[in-house]
Amino acid sequence: MKRTLEVLFTPAEFNMLGTRDLSGSVCVVFDVLRATSVMVKALSENAEGIIPVGTIQEAVALHHKKPGLVLAGERHGLRIMADQSGGVSFQLGNSPREFTREKVGGKTIVTTTTNGTRALQSCRGASEVLIASFLNLDVVAGYLAKEKARSLVIVCSGTGEEAAYEDTLGAGALCSALVENGFDGRVIDSTRIAMAVYQQEQIDLLGAMQRASNGARLLGIPELKDDVEFCLQRNAIPLLAQMGADGVVMRRG
Ligand code: MLT
Repeated sequence: MKRTLEVLFTPAEFNMLGTRDLSGSVCVVFDVLRATSVMVKALSENAEGIIPVGTIQEAVALHHKKPGLVLAGERHGLRIMADQSGGVSFQLGNSPREFTREKVGGKTIVTTTTNGTRALQSCRGASEVLIASFLNLDVVAGYLAKEKARSLVIVCSGTGEEAAYEDTLGAGALCSALVENGFDGRVIDSTRIAMAVYQQEQIDLLGAMQRASNGARLLGIPELKDDVEFCLQRNAIPLLAQMGADGVVMRRG
C-alpha cells in the first residue's frame, strides 16, 4: 500500500486520532502562532525539554511536584495569572521572544496552551511526533523525506475549535517542500487544499496574517504583535524537535 500524506485542519479531526491506529504513522504538529514556534525557540536557547500538558491544573500540579520546572503557557494569548490557576502566577507566557537563554537555558519547561498542547497530546499513539513551525520547516521536511512511515499526518492545531489559517499555511509549505522533493506516496485532497492555499499566499505571509483570526488578534495586541513576524521566519532556527513516548519534547538534531 502506498504511504499517504494527510493534513488535518481542525481540533475535531485531531480529537479523532485516538480512535486510529497510528503505530505506523508520523504525526507532525503545527501551531505556528505560537505553541510549536515557542518550543523550537526554547530548545534553541538550550531548554532541556518541554512537557506539554492540557490544563492549567496539570501544569500547576507538575510544578508543585518539581519546583525546578519553568511554568509557562497562555489563555486568550496572555500569560496565565494567579487568579486563573488557584494562586500561582506562571513565569512565562507563550511569546517566543520571552524564551531566552537566561530564562530557559538548562531548564525543563511545563507548558499549557489553548490548542497546541492539546494537539500534541492527541498524537501520543504515533510512532513519532515532530514539532513543526516555519522556524524549522526545511529541517522537518528533510527528515520526513527519509522517513519510511506508512503515513505522514500533518496536524494543524487550529484556534479554539476552528481551523487556523497560519497552520494551514505551515502545513501547505511543508507538503509543498515534500512534493517538490519527490514524495512518492498518495497526496490526499486535504493536502492539496493546504498546498494550494500556501502557493497563493507565500509571497506575503505577514499580509495573510491580517486576514487570519489568530494572526489579526495577536497583531492587535501591542506587546504580542512582533511575535507574528517572528514566527513566520522560515528556517531561522534549523533544529529538529520530537515528542518522546514519555511526552517530553526534546531536541533531536
Ligand atoms: C495555542 O496553543 O492555542 C496557541 O499557541 C495560542 C497562542 O499562543 O496565542
